Amino acid sequence: MENFIVTTVRNPNSELVRLAEEISLKLGGKFVVRENLSFDVLKKIHGVENILLVKKNSLSVVTSDGELFFHPNTAHLRIKNLREGDGDRLIDALKISAGSTVLDCTLGLGSDAIVESFIAGSSGKIIALEKNPLIAEIVRHGMKNFSEDSPHILDAMRRVEVINVAAENFLPTCAENSFDVVYFDPMFRRPVKKSSGINPLRPLADKNPLSPEMIREACRVAKFRVVMKEHSGSPEFERLGFKIADGGKYSSVTFGIIEL
Ligand SMILES: C[S@@+](CC[C@H](N)C(=O)[O-])C[C@H]1O[C@@H](n2cnc3c(N)ncnc32)[C@H](O)[C@@H]1O
Repeated sequence: MENFIVTTVRNPNSELVRLAEEISLKLGGKFVVRENLSFDVLKKIHGVENILLVKKNSLSVVTSDGELFFHPNTAHLRIKNLREGDGDRLIDALKISAGSTVLDCTLGLGSDAIVESFIAGSSGKIIALEKNPLIAEIVRHGMKNFSEDSPHILDAMRRVEVINVAAENFLPTCAENSFDVVYFDPMFRRPVKKSSGINPLRPLADKNPLSPEMIREACRVAKFRVVMKEHSGSPEFERLGFKIADGGKYSSVTFGIIEL
């Protein structure tokens, strides 16, 4: 399938080699013994753009824009704020609480999904979809194995179910009203350059716009609302039928809502 190989750090133990072979079989990228070769040399020899790198406790993807790895990123601070009684714009837009179910159609590095999961708690359910198999794999592995954070953040990430699938293919398989909320955070039509945290995501991420058909399906699947994040002033809100949420007047991003 994709243009990538799977390898390990230099001098791997047998467990890392086994994991790299397993991932290569699962995703279809060729497994290559690292030896002492640099990433640039490996890319040249194998004619690939990306390397899925298996390390001791994590996976990453070496792309043309740097190394992409899983980290709770903004989820850490946002959950700290929520625990201290402050709000969170996404949670306000989704209007979720303990026990809520969310279909997050655009996982990316999973920060939003972790915050949703923190709020929904163990009685709720977050299913997060990601179209790109490499992003899905490193984030799924990270959500399961990342260990350097506080227990409530680790618990929240462990509960997120990651599925490598395009939202347009998954939505039609869902029953009517099967999630409280369906959420989309597509790659912005006009990238906000400042959000450099997602720069290594760019070469891998799916950049297709959402279609009206996907939004229609989302409205069938969601019980209460469909929410989309886009840059402020984006024509996508009107094109897809979203009403702008209150708040964030001075922010570069805005949430759009379709109330059902
Ligand atoms: C802006 S990022 C999402 C960031 C995420 N909300 C977070 O908190 O990290 C968009 C992600 O959605 C994925 N994506 C875009 N269109 C998709 C689709 N139709 N189905 C599934 N995933 C999609 C992209 O590959 C990318 O990883």
